[in-house]
Amino acid sequence: MKSNLGRALDQLQRQVEAESLEKYGRRVIERWENPPHKGMIDNPSCRGKKTGSCGDSMEIFLRIQDGRIMAAGFVADGCGSSQVAASACCELSMGRTLEDAMSIDKNAVLELLGGLPDDDAHCAHLAAKTLEDAIHDWMTRFRDQAG
Ligand code: FES
Repeated sequence: MKSNLGRALDQLQRQVEAESLEKYGRRVIERWENPPHKGMIDNPSCRGKKTGSCGDSMEIFLRIQDGRIMAAGFVADGCGSSQVAASACCELSMGRTLEDAMSIDKNAVLELLGGLPDDDAHCAHLAAKTLEDAIHDWMTRFRDQAG
């Protein structure tokens, strides 16, 4: 049998979960609980790293094959929204050509996530810029190899 404290903690937990669901939506919460593409990938071809104005950093790794993104992973030390935004960015990039992936922007990330609170929209921008940085890194390496 649960103590009064145990019941109070359960109620508090349910309240926090309900508030998070209302604020962020189911798609974001589910991705936050188990973010696809989290972590380093084997044999990355390139990487991008950005730090947002909030001070949080993010890194995205890509494996490129025949001009297409075949694997993507991320590490991020920031807020929950930055984790889900980086995860969404990696998902959006999979299988795309580099030129096509360059079009992935904040709006594409927000659309996949079903939106973020206004205060967290910059986290989606940071993720898109980090992906762009990774693609630039690959283009620089390719140019250097070709030159
Ligand atoms: Fe810094 Fe989200 S990335 S608050």
